[in-house]
Order: sequence, then C-alpha cells, then structure tokens
Amino acid sequence: MNFKKEILRLKKELDVTIVAHFYQKDEVFEMGDITGDSLELAKRAMNAPTKNIIFCGVGFMGESVKVLSPSKRVLMPRIACCAMARMIDVEYFDTNLKILNEAGISNDDILPITYINSSAAVKAAVGKMGGYVCTSSNAFAIIKKGLKSGKKIFFVPDRCLGQNFANQMELKSAVIGLDDIEDVKASDIICYNGFCSVHQLFTPEDIDFYREKYPDIIVAVHPECDVKVVQKADFVGSTSQLIKYITQELDPEQKVVVGTEYNMVNRLRDKNTYILSQTKPECPTMNETSLEDLYNTLISIQKGTYDNEIIVSEDVAKYAKIALERMFEV
Ligand code: 13P
Ligand code: SF4
Repeated sequence: MNFKKEILRLKKELDVTIVAHFYQKDEVFEMGDITGDSLELAKRAMNAPTKNIIFCGVGFMGESVKVLSPSKRVLMPRIACCAMARMIDVEYFDTNLKILNEAGISNDDILPITYINSSAAVKAAVGKMGGYVCTSSNAFAIIKKGLKSGKKIFFVPDRCLGQNFANQMELKSAVIGLDDIEDVKASDIICYNGFCSVHQLFTPEDIDFYREKYPDIIVAVHPECDVKVVQKADFVGSTSQLIKYITQELDPEQKVVVGTEYNMVNRLRDKNTYILSQTKPECPTMNETSLEDLYNTLISIQKGTYDNEIIVSEDVAKYAKIALERMFEV
C-alpha cells in the first residue's frame, strides 16, 4: 500500500491535525501539519482547529496537549516514551525531596521546575508545590522567574539542562546522588540525576576532533548535552533555535557540526553540516513511529475506535495544567 498517498487522502477527509516533532523519521515528519520544538508543538497543537490531534512524537508531548486542551482527542501512532521522562516518577520526586528535607532544606524553601520531558503526574506534583514547567527554549526565563521567589530551584529530571543553565546564569548547581550533600545544600539549582542517553553520546573529544579537522567549524548543540560539551560549543539552543541559527543565520558555506538527534541534523542542509558523533545518535523511541502506524491511527478515527488515545486523570490534569500555564504566563 502507498501509505503516504492514503495518509494525505484521509487527512483531507477527517477532522484531524497531524503534529510532528523534528526528531521523527523524514517520511513521518513530512506528513505533519504542525512541526516544531516541544514548546511550539504544545502551544500550536492546543490551538489547532480540529477535534482530533495525532501526535507523532513521544508520550509526554501528547500528554501535554491533552492536559492543556482536554476537549481535544489526542491520539499517538505509538505511545513511545522519552527515556529521560521515564527516569522520574512521583515516588522518585518525593524521595529526592525527602533527601533535601533530611539535609535541612524544607519544602517551603524549594521551588520545583520540571523540564517538559516528564510525565503529567510529575508535572502535577510540581504544580502542587507552586512550581513551573519549562522547555529547552524557555528554561533561562523560567529559572530566572523561579529564582525571584528567593527559594532554591529543584530542577527535574534533566541534570544537564539544570547544570547548563546554572552555568549560563553564573549560579551554583549540584546533582542529588552525584555530588556531595554539602555542595547540594550550597547550590542555587539542585538537579535531579536524570539525562538523555541520546545527547550523552556527544563528547568533548568529538568537538576536539572536528575543530582539528576543520579549524573554522562552528559547534552547535542542544542543552541536553553534557556540561563539558556545552562549555566547548559556539551555540546552544532548542531544536527550533538550532534550525533557525544554522539555516537562517549561518552562511551556507560555513561548516557546522551539530550535537542533537540524527533525523533532524540530517535534513538541515545539503552540505557543510556534520553530526557530532561517531555513532548515529537516533532517539529510539522517536524513531518507533512509522507511516503505517500513522495510517492505522487515521483509520481508527474513521472507524471511531480511536486507538492509542491519550487519557490523563482529572486530578493529575488539573495540577499539571497549572504548572504548564505558569510557564506560558512567563
Ligand atoms: P526541543 O524542545 O528542543 O524540541 O527538545 C525536545 C527533546 O526531546 C530533545 O531531546
Ligand atoms: Fe527523550 Fe532524549 Fe529522545 Fe529527546 S532525544 S525524546 S530527551 S530520549
């Protein structure tokens, strides 16, 4: 079957918007009515004119749209879960708070901020404590806002994002479980020990290799990369910010090496673009979604069976929404 042709036909017939993140396989990405980074997708999908949203991405992205726009029906061709988001649940969140409490930091002195790459339940736990959600494109502004409370920021789940923005703001950060508890106590930003296994593939040695080979090369990376990588880079940004910088601000002849997911880097430019890794840094869960899955999801809308619908309980949705909306207010 020609899935592409069938998807295009069904899209016209049905009341549906297809949303796709930049890390999707090319053939799936091309089917997207809305594409963007996590922040843009959340904003634009919740305002889409259709009842049905098919989200080609990972679980937390579909969940965020459902939380923000409960009247929409959100379906995912694959309920693929971001590996970083799976590193934290509400129990781990509470256990980490307990560690801080035992170290003499009470909950009243903590403002939690969760990266959008987390479950709705974790977002709700953060929302209940007066905290915020942030994404890679607005983390600086959200952390700055959070610091105005005079409290310590408890940043979950990505330790790299927390450490990288702390460095950018010249603040002290430490990671629970990795750093000495005295360092944790003395920090402005206390990080949970989570990370993205895909972005951990990029190393400072990879940067040295490219700089030696092409002395004028620009290094552009995502803030989920390790601190040592980010410190050596020329540009750091979310997926959308990386695309804008590389395709609109750099001279087409300027060589650039990029530290983020393979599918996105591969479609950036025809030439002068390299991937900052000796292995292919594909996000396994983002890559699970196929054209056939997308086709099957459209068919389920046509039949009324609505396969892989995202459901978020009312209590979780209520507080997760509060944390997400606080982000939009900033
Ligand atoms: P962006 O918000 O930059 O699109 O990042 C999402 C993500 O999962 C990166 O690994
Ligand atoms: Fe999650 Fe990393 Fe994949 Fe992004 S690249 S969706 S953080 S596992």
